[in-house]
Amino acid sequence: MQLLGCIERGSTLGNHYNDMTIKKVAFMTEIKIRKVEEKDFLRIIKFTDNCAPIPKERNSIYHCLTRFFANTCFVAERKGNIIGHILGWVSQVNDRVAYVHNICIMPEERRHKLATKLYDRFIQAVKEIGCDQIYLIANAKNDTSINFHRSLGFEPTIEGEKIMINGVETIKDYNGPGEHMVLMRKDLS
Ligand SMILES: CC(C)(COP(=O)(O)OP(=O)(O)OC[C@H]1O[C@@H](n2cnc3c(N)ncnc32)[C@H](O)[C@@H]1OP(=O)(O)O)[C@@H](O)C(=O)NCCC(=O)NCCS
Repeated sequence: MQLLGCIERGSTLGNHYNDMTIKKVAFMTEIKIRKVEEKDFLRIIKFTDNCAPIPKERNSIYHCLTRFFANTCFVAERKGNIIGHILGWVSQVNDRVAYVHNICIMPEERRHKLATKLYDRFIQAVKEIGCDQIYLIANAKNDTSINFHRSLGFEPTIEGEKIMINGVETIKDYNGPGEHMVLMRKDLS
């Protein structure tokens, strides 16, 4: 908040920033990113109304994540309201591998690098645990997700039978018959 005040008063520092930068600084200074707590799960369930095209899970999954996977799940809050989340975990069969199950930002809060900040927090946490790679799956038709993850350095990777959907390398039947998915991977080392 100090920095924002300084810029708004037209200080020397402020002269180097345009209006867009000032808005972005203002946007981020009001936001807190923190680990989830078990008691968040009801609010997270409500928040997922904003996450289309990502399907909602059974409610119990969100309770399970906030209770048993809280070291690798984060929320972004503004004035106590959840405006974004990243939910993931570390593999039980390879503790160098992390998996992001879901990332979502409130529609009116998008394109301000908030999801990028949530990923920064997630990556910091899983690196401390010892991970050196992250996976996620995305629907090939979800251009936003594919573009966003590419911007972070994720790339599609193929295991099994490859098919092209929407110009993206996709794994046939990855999530079950007819549910072809893009498996994306990023190396952290
Ligand atoms: C995908 C999602 C999480 C991105 O959140 P966000 O906070 O808007 O993302 P960021 O602002 O950090 O975007 C970083 C970069 O990703 C890319 N990107 C993000 N949204 C994009 C879009 N709609 N179209 C094209 N590129 C996009 C851009 O390169 C962007 O950088 P730029 O704004 O400087 O161009 C958000 O759109 C969302 O919640 N979507 C619905 C849920 C979903 O599909 N989640 C993905 C699950 S696999």
